[in-house]
Amino acid sequence: MSQLRNVLWTHQGLSLPHNVIKETLDVLPGFQIRDDDVVVASYPKTGTNWLTEIVVKILRASGKTEESVDTMTVGAMELRRPTAPQPGYVKLAELLSPRLLITHLPIQFAPKGISKPQNKVKVLVPMRNPKDTAVSMFHFSKEIIPLLGGNADDLRWEDFVQDYSAGIVPYGDFCDHVLGWWQMRDDPHFLFLKYEDMKKDLLSAVKTIVTFLEVDLDESTVKGIAEASTFNNMKPVLDNAAAAERRHIARKGIVGDWKNYFSTEESEAFDAWCEKKLGGAGLTFDFE
Ligand code: A3P
Repeated sequence: MSQLRNVLWTHQGLSLPHNVIKETLDVLPGFQIRDDDVVVASYPKTGTNWLTEIVVKILRASGKTEESVDTMTVGAMELRRPTAPQPGYVKLAELLSPRLLITHLPIQFAPKGISKPQNKVKVLVPMRNPKDTAVSMFHFSKEIIPLLGGNADDLRWEDFVQDYSAGIVPYGDFCDHVLGWWQMRDDPHFLFLKYEDMKKDLLSAVKTIVTFLEVDLDESTVKGIAEASTFNNMKPVLDNAAAAERRHIARKGIVGDWKNYFSTEESEAFDAWCEKKLGGAGLTFDFE
């Protein structure tokens, strides 16, 4: 059994970290979404901060207010960060428009307004192959376990990978989570972006986001945003943002690190799990 279990609790079958509390989950479905909100909805460790930073850069360049994009200090709306007195949504409810909201919640626990087809809110969903996502979460867990009162040394990869495919990790089962948001794929207010595609061609990804956000930026500004968003250029920004909480967001930032962790048997079992859950959903991931 992995050490991670000790710092999680379960709400209606969903594993969550202790800094997401029941009261938040009760009120969040009713959280008032505005038409000009921009939402990043992600499973943890899929590149949330990378995508969010790009969105922030685009909004800033287009002259949106500073307050609306001050999201790194707020973080995911359901979380009460160690440095904050209340969960993120309390502060976000007070912010002026346009706001940028982040959530790691599965679609059925997130504010209902995000997925209402008649709403004009723009929702970006980062997606990443589950093996690299698992490796990233393994390392992140080693950082957060001590902060939540556990012992990180006892978290072994062999146990973690089992728990991961059983959904006993923060925010639950990867496949259920992505499938939930993937239901919205035909809604024009949703944009799904693959981490691996962003790694391959960041400039194209930034252009896609600019178009999706309906923002008018000249070519050199767009190029500048892509350049500033490479792993090496963004790492100091992300490290700085997370420093107060003694954790790291920017670790390796590559595709395929999973090969350094998964045994052949673990990899095959993982593939079978994904195929069983995701097969037929038209959702594929790149592992190289
Ligand atoms: P690794 O742990 O594999 O390095 P999240 O923001 O959802 O917590 O995701 C964190 C992952 O995104 C980490 O993956 C981190 O290194 C990666 N990441 C952050 N900024 C990035 C960037 N500019 N380019 C590529 N990957 C980035």
